[in-house]
Amino acid sequence: METLQELVSRAATELIRRQPAAVFSGAGVSEESGIPTFRGDEGLWKRYSPALYGNIPGLALAYLIRPRKLAGFFQDILDTFLEASPNPGHLALAELYKMGLMGPVITQNIDDLHRLAGSPDVIELHGSLMRWRCLKCGSRKDVSREDLARIKEILSRPGTGRVALARIGRRHLPRCSKCKGSMRPDVVAFGESLPGQDYNRAVSEAQRCRLMLILGTSGIVYPAASIPIIAKRTGAVLVEINPEKGGLTEMADIFIQGTCGKVLPLLLAEAKRFAKEDS
Ligand code: OAD
Repeated sequence: METLQELVSRAATELIRRQPAAVFSGAGVSEESGIPTFRGDEGLWKRYSPALYGNIPGLALAYLIRPRKLAGFFQDILDTFLEASPNPGHLALAELYKMGLMGPVITQNIDDLHRLAGSPDVIELHGSLMRWRCLKCGSRKDVSREDLARIKEILSRPGTGRVALARIGRRHLPRCSKCKGSMRPDVVAFGESLPGQDYNRAVSEAQRCRLMLILGTSGIVYPAASIPIIAKRTGAVLVEINPEKGGLTEMADIFIQGTCGKVLPLLLAEAKRFAKEDS
């Protein structure tokens, strides 16, 4: 059996041979930033049923029958999101990009951490909490962390029942700059389509790349999980980093068992060592 260092070394060799690589990432990449994954022991879907909180009709029902728990759900998400900052895994990816070894980051995450770390080309398949969409005219606008912190503070005031939640929606959530319509976070809930342009770009990047890093995802949510499958079918080598095996592991050419925050800096160090030897 190969040691961790041997696996990392083999991955770095492939990376240099097949640069620039594409990345396909999931919640595990942000776990070491303090954001629990969806399906882990402390995961969001362990604390809130995805049948109720993961889709729009369910959220509407939660508003009617469990408004306080719904307020808690939004608060929980904003809490972990606002406290999180990029970890060594995110930062190593951005550094690999600067070295010309990494291409686009295709992510299922809505937490903006790849971009904050300095990765300039991020394709957000499931949207972003930092962007909101008008329910009336479809216009989008960026919101700031301060806007989100203000919403979190309002939600944490005591007595967030149905009436209070409706008032918060009317008075305190972002409004469309064009038509003044109500807005919602531009994120994909279960049952909704992925943003077409982003998905199409992800498909063409998957077809183009010769190596794809699969980072911190269970790889079971489609159509997003089809991206590494497309890459594999069009000839890319797949390198997966995850403490546990998942839905895509069988297809991986190299599986490195470990966390992204630990393994990606090792991969970066090895790539730097090879680059130095070459110069
Ligand atoms: P999951 O919660 O399904 O999977 C997280 C993965 O990260 C698991 O495979 C863990 O083993 C792994 N993991 C945990 N800690 C890690 C670490 N420090 N480093 C590396 N890996 C680690 O999250 P996703 O696969 O992202 O969609 O879930 C996919 C989609 O399901 C999400 O985008 C979301 C969710 O429902 C929507 O909301 C539409």
